[in-house]
Amino acid sequence: MPELKNEFDCAATLKEGTWWMPFTANRRVREQGMARVLTSAKGAYYTAADGTKLFDTLSGLWCSPLGHADPRITEALRKQADTLDFAPGFQIANPETVRLSERIANMAPAGMDHVFFANSGSEADDTALKIAIGYHRLRGEGARFRLIGRERGYHGVGLGGMSVGGIVPNRKMFATIMVPGVDHIRHPYDHSKVAFSKGQPEWGAEMAEDLERLVALHDASTIAAIMVEPVQGSTGVLVPPVGYLERLREICTKHGILLIFDEVITGFGRMGENFASQRFNVKPDMITFAKAVTNGIVPMGGVIVSSDIYNTFMTGPENAIEFAHGYTYSGHPLAAAVAHTVLDIMEEENLVSRARALEPVLEEAVHSLRDVPIVYDIRNIGLTAGIDLKPAAGKPGARGLAMFERGLKEGLLLRCTGDTISFGPPFISTPEQLRDMVATVRKLIIELD
Ligand SMILES: Cc1ncc(COP(=O)(O)O)c(C=O)c1O
Repeated sequence: MPELKNEFDCAATLKEGTWWMPFTANRRVREQGMARVLTSAKGAYYTAADGTKLFDTLSGLWCSPLGHADPRITEALRKQADTLDFAPGFQIANPETVRLSERIANMAPAGMDHVFFANSGSEADDTALKIAIGYHRLRGEGARFRLIGRERGYHGVGLGGMSVGGIVPNRKMFATIMVPGVDHIRHPYDHSKVAFSKGQPEWGAEMAEDLERLVALHDASTIAAIMVEPVQGSTGVLVPPVGYLERLREICTKHGILLIFDEVITGFGRMGENFASQRFNVKPDMITFAKAVTNGIVPMGGVIVSSDIYNTFMTGPENAIEFAHGYTYSGHPLAAAVAHTVLDIMEEENLVSRARALEPVLEEAVHSLRDVPIVYDIRNIGLTAGIDLKPAAGKPGARGLAMFERGLKEGLLLRCTGDTISFGPPFISTPEQLRDMVATVRKLIIELD
């Protein structure tokens, strides 16, 4: 047990590893010490412990499109803390959260009129999966117990989301506690057919037929829902081919399978519309959200459901709890107050349109890297992009890690998974900042071994 010190020494304590950090190579951070510490943030930049300003290339973890330390949000947070800092959401409501549910329902596709709040993407996704199972059971189709995900999908780290997710390192250690009855369709990405596509690839709608394969294998009467990210974010921005999401919708409707869009990354403007569902003009039965709704400042997530689903639960004795599920912090008033201010700012400053306007700037900038020999693929949609680097011989992931570490010295906080770099810059970015970001990335890639 590390000794408690009277005077806090961040460098020394970090090296001791008392903070077991999430999704982190902990020993590497301990070794690098203060080079891996952020101390403040303002606008589109973080400041590292040595004073270096770092452009926030992924809006935190896709969650801070408005940038950091906006005094309007800080003020809303303070005011709400003074008024109603916490209120339980079990059997009793509070005005900010009531108003937020209405506001989010109004932003969502028509007919998706009810919001269940959680505190993270993982909680939102597990909630949606439980709603799907409960919905079918209440309709007398309890045999629909299977949940379908997609290879390379990321739906957080709860047991449901992990099981439906399709990222191997997140799954292999926990095989014994996977939710039963889960299966996966293939992802629609095929490098040989869609490499260097700008926006939606023309090839790949037929990959949606993989759901028909699973229906043929398991029978539709055993399948409750499929959960997909409209754009697969964490796995490096895999963009849905033209017609692909539409086809998934058709197959789900045909077989009575619920379609859940995980919009934890794409929700609240990243695709240049409130939700990706609106960008791609495909309406799911449920949308999960988190991250940008509060600009990442207070944790919040949730599930937006169709009226059909909500009404199916609103049966039985009136004094009975209809859905035995919820979190202590579901609908936290601080998060709700922050969400209102974030959505106010997005509206007043037309930030969703701005994200859309920046899309061609980011597209042109990232695709300019195509001539760099070790760049293997470049993809983009909305204010997101992914760049795959060819792995160094015998050392997969080494180039990605080197990019991240060198980025810290060159003014960029990069997000690299394996040898893929993902971009999701703040909506408040300027075109110059995006071009500078890519220019620095070019320099860093060229300098790689
Ligand atoms: C699509 C998607 N779903 C779910 C999650 C999990 O969200 P959280 O980390 O808030 O639990 C993430 C996180 O990046 C995500 O990208």
